[in-house]
Amino acid sequence: MRIGIIGAGNIATAILSGISSTDKNVNICCSDVDQKQLSKIKKSKQISTTRNNLVAVTKSDLVFLCVKPNVIEKVMREIKPIFQPKQILISVAAGISLKTLESFLGKERKIIRTMPNLPCLVARGVIGMKANKNCTAKDKKIAEKLISSVGKIVQVRSDKAFDYITAISGSGPAFLAEYIRANMSFAKSKRLGEKTSKDLVFETISGTIEFLKYNDIKIEKFISMVASPGGTTEEGLKSLRRNNYTKIVKESLRVAAKRSSAISKKVASKRKKING
Ligand SMILES: NC(=O)c1ccc[n+]([C@@H]2O[C@H](COP(=O)([O-])OP(=O)(O)OC[C@H]3O[C@@H](n4cnc5c(N)ncnc54)[C@H](OP(=O)(O)O)[C@@H]3O)[C@@H](O)[C@H]2O)c1
Repeated sequence: MRIGIIGAGNIATAILSGISSTDKNVNICCSDVDQKQLSKIKKSKQISTTRNNLVAVTKSDLVFLCVKPNVIEKVMREIKPIFQPKQILISVAAGISLKTLESFLGKERKIIRTMPNLPCLVARGVIGMKANKNCTAKDKKIAEKLISSVGKIVQVRSDKAFDYITAISGSGPAFLAEYIRANMSFAKSKRLGEKTSKDLVFETISGTIEFLKYNDIKIEKFISMVASPGGTTEEGLKSLRRNNYTKIVKESLRVAAKRSSAISKKVASKRKKING
């Protein structure tokens, strides 16, 4: 199978390492405007690189579009004349709906919208996915096989749901990193040392997740298992609740989803204006 990747940044690097480590029978061509990015990506993987997006698209069975949302339209205009009915385009762009992607490339083209996240870099990502009606069951299966090499796939019903997925799993790693940063900052301020602080914080988080994932236990029950009456955890939880911790977390997700929706609308309305 021949795969084209347009844009050689973070997400492209993740997709590349996932695919090339699980499927040896793929031929990958990656394009980018930045030669430095291409050299970086080529150093680590056996792929061909080019500064011409059309070269990456020509002869590819499937093309991953991994550029930032603000250049999606430009790139799609560029590739539209050579994009073939049998080729599949997979977009990873945040906030660009399937409808908008279809308006850029053609309603009759095979297009899949995905929403990956940065942990795809360590093959532990979660990827929201929705294919348009032109994709056959076989097309979807091929795409799923490739995408699942970097994480767990979640099927998405609507473009609206993508806004929430963008907030929870797309932006979520940064929100969690902010929580980790606060913990690390506290641990270091108490002179626990860098390594000890890291061990304490990272192992606490990953251990909690493992426990919750593999034991069929309600979150509330888990909290009560940690917090004994009158103890340290109860005291800390009271402080979190007094300071509206849940409200703060939900608000960050709400505004991130709102921003995703606003980006979608902006791109779609710009497109409508161009089309008259
Ligand atoms: N990073 C995340 O956590 C994350 C999560 C979910 C979804 N996404 C989506 O993934 C996409 C890529 O994000 P990223 O973080 O991987 O971005 P990135 O690291 O900036 O990579 C994008 C690459 O595309 C290049 N590029 C710009 N214009 C181009 C053109 N006309 N043709 C070919 N290449 C071009 C950029 O070069 P220059 O730097 O020189 O412009 C850059 O090397 C975005 O649409 C984003 O919404 C990202």
